[in-house]
Amino acid sequence: MVVSRILSGIKPTGRPHLGNYFGMMRPGIEWQDKGEAFYFIADYHALTTVHDPALLREYSRSVALDFLACGLDPSKAVLFRQSDVPEVTELAWLLTCLTPMPMLENCHAYKDHLNKGKVPSHGLFAYPVLMAADILLYNSNIVPVGRDQKQHVEVTRDLAEKANRTFGPIFTVPEASIVAEVATVIGLDGQKMSKSYNNTLGLFEEEKVLRKKVMSIVTDSSPVEAPKDPSSSSILALYKLCAEPAAVALMEDQFRSGGVGYGDFKKRLFDALWSRFAPLRARRAELASDPAALDAILENGADRARAVALPTMSRMRQAMGLR
Ligand code: ADP
Ligand code: TRP
Repeated sequence: MVVSRILSGIKPTGRPHLGNYFGMMRPGIEWQDKGEAFYFIADYHALTTVHDPALLREYSRSVALDFLACGLDPSKAVLFRQSDVPEVTELAWLLTCLTPMPMLENCHAYKDHLNKGKVPSHGLFAYPVLMAADILLYNSNIVPVGRDQKQHVEVTRDLAEKANRTFGPIFTVPEASIVAEVATVIGLDGQKMSKSYNNTLGLFEEEKVLRKKVMSIVTDSSPVEAPKDPSSSSILALYKLCAEPAAVALMEDQFRSGGVGYGDFKKRLFDALWSRFAPLRARRAELASDPAALDAILENGADRARAVALPTMSRMRQAMGLR
């Protein structure tokens, strides 16, 4: 496939964690050298949960800084706020009119909400259609995401195909790009790491907080001398993401042979995480000290995004019989 446009988004709903970084941000950033990469702060999507305007503004800027600190290069990739191109909500409406209800009833975020006995908003129900609009508006063909977003990219493909069948060839049909080894990063409790499960290790966490969280990783009650199972350990799974291969091999051996306790392994994990992210922390602090530079990056990103979005929007309006 010819890679022309790579696109992904992240919701400004809090500080990013290792799952976001390894599952989406780092793979996304690696794509910036292989094609035209578009990354956006999904603030419209965040409105399904964040209803405090000051907080939403703060989170949006903070996520942009995080992305830049992680290596997003604004001279290569386009970084913008979703709401700076409001046409995306118009496209979402046009797509909504092509979306069968059962397709959305089958989506996991909505089903999880129902299973928890909560009343989903219409926004949460229609969330995948807005996501499809994000992807299709920018003619994206590659969408780097973690595994939990695969279903949404499939909805997008179905909608693009349906629109193309009904109204002629308007949209590029995208594909998800999921890095197998980091498709689901495990959290402190052994479940998928997620802001909603309160089991995260933040990328830019304070030293004391990060240490405390690492020390709180749930383990079994094997004594120090007992051999331990390396395959089921979240400590080792996380260590693999941030330590050198030789250090990982040593820890694996020590799991199998016994004689080292979980507390010791956790300390090593903390040290590896802390030093792995030190350069990113320094870069983030530098970027945070220049808010005007961030504004300029986001404005320039919005201009570049709009230049791609408007022609697609006008094609779709025409094709559907609007003026
Ligand atoms: P959260 O589940 O914490 O709310 P988001 O929904 O904001 O995270 O996810 C942003 C991006 O990070 C998505 O592409 C998602 O697939 C990816 N991601 C989130 N959690 C993980 C994880 N534990 N492992 C791998 N990727 C993840
Ligand atoms: N739904 C994604 C998430 O929860 C964020 C997102 C919104 C997105 N629009 C997108 C990701 C378009 C990729 C492409 O993480």
